[in-house]
Parts: sequence; structure tokens; C-alpha cells
Amino acid sequence: MGQARPRTTDIRQATDQDIEALRAIDPLLLREGDRSRHLVHAVAAGQCHILQEGSAACAYGVLTDQFFHQRFIALLIVADERRNRGLGTIMLRHLRALCPTAKLFTSTNLSNVGMQRLLLREGFIQSGVILHLDENDPELVFHSPACSAGPFKAPEDGF
Ligand SMILES: CC(C)(COP(=O)(O)OP(=O)(O)OC[C@H]1O[C@@H](n2cnc3c(N)ncnc32)[C@H](O)[C@@H]1OP(=O)(O)O)[C@@H](O)C(=O)NCCC(=O)NCCS
Repeated sequence: MGQARPRTTDIRQATDQDIEALRAIDPLLLREGDRSRHLVHAVAAGQCHILQEGSAACAYGVLTDQFFHQRFIALLIVADERRNRGLGTIMLRHLRALCPTAKLFTSTNLSNVGMQRLLLREGFIQSGVILHLDENDPELVFHSPACSAGPFKAPEDGF
């Protein structure tokens, strides 16, 4: 793929009203209580972004600030039937554009070849490996060095 195709996509911060649409994008939310709780928290914190094509909710991404004082894409999910059409690329670029820090991190399982291809294609570089999060499926950490702003400033009163 060259450039992501121009299309009528809209990405905005998700709200409580979008929770049902997020569950339709990501059926794991219905099966895994922890994932669902984290997502509800991310929505409340303004960290969840939802992509729509027309009125159809197609993808979401969660950008957190809880990774060694750096921004971190915790989740990037495209609805199963909407994959391989450039939407993951569009969402990844959107999250990177939102990132106010010099570096943006994310991670994916060794088995997730599709996500690794997307990250490498978009200029992400592997930063390391975390073992034992999922047994027998190491977590590969990536970062994009191409974000715009300076280093993340920790709040004066700490974390
Ligand atoms: C990983 C994931 C986010 C990628 O999303 P996506 O929308 O399929 O990504 P894209 O469409 O931008 O790119 C995927 C492929 O489609 C191709 N593609 C994109 N637009 C295309 C088009 N119009 N025509 C043909 N192919 C196209 C890309 O070139 C890419 O091919 P490659 O894998 O051979 O490099 C998606 O598969 C997903 O949600 N997976 C499950 C959740 C997950 O694992 N998330 C990551 C960890 S949280």
C-alpha cells in the first residue's frame, strides 16, 4: 500500500455514548471483563479515539501516558470485516499526530504479524521484548521516534 486512500473517515474522542459501538468493533470486550473495564476507564479519561466511515464505527485506538512517562498506544483495533483497507494505518497516523511527546511507544505479541507489519511500515522501530505477559507469546515493544514535541513533563506533584 502507498498512501492510505482518501475517504470519508472521521476520528474523534470516544464518549460514554460510544461504548456499544466499541463493543461491536471489538467482541473481546464482551468476553473479557478486564479489557472492558480498561476501555471504560480510557473513554472516561479521554484516551480512546473512535474512527467512523460515514455512520459506521470501524476502529478504535487508546493512547495512554502510563508507559515510563511516555505516550503508549495500548490498543488499536479495526473491526474484523473492515481490515486490510487502510483504516489501521489511518488510526495509527492519527494517534501519532496526537502524541505530544518526542517518542511514541506501543507493543504487540510476537504472533501478531499483521500489527508488526503495520508498525514497521509506518516507521516504528523495535525497542525490546517483554517475556511472560502472555506465556509462549512474547510482547514486542516498538517506538516511533518521529513525534513532534519535546519530552513529556512529569507533573510537579508526581504521579
Ligand atoms: C492490526 C490491525 C489494527 C491492522 O488494521 P488494518 O486496518 O487491517 O490495517 P491496514 O489496512 O492499514 O493495513 C493492513 C494491510 O492491508 C493493506 N491495505 C491497506 N489498504 C489496502 C487497500 N485499499 N487495498 C489492499 N490492501 C490494503 C496494507 O498494505 C497492509 O498490508 P500488509 O499487512 O501486507 O502490509 C488489525 O488487523 C486489527 O485490528 N487486528 C486485531 C487487533 C490487534 O491485533 N491490534 C494490535 C494490537 S492492540
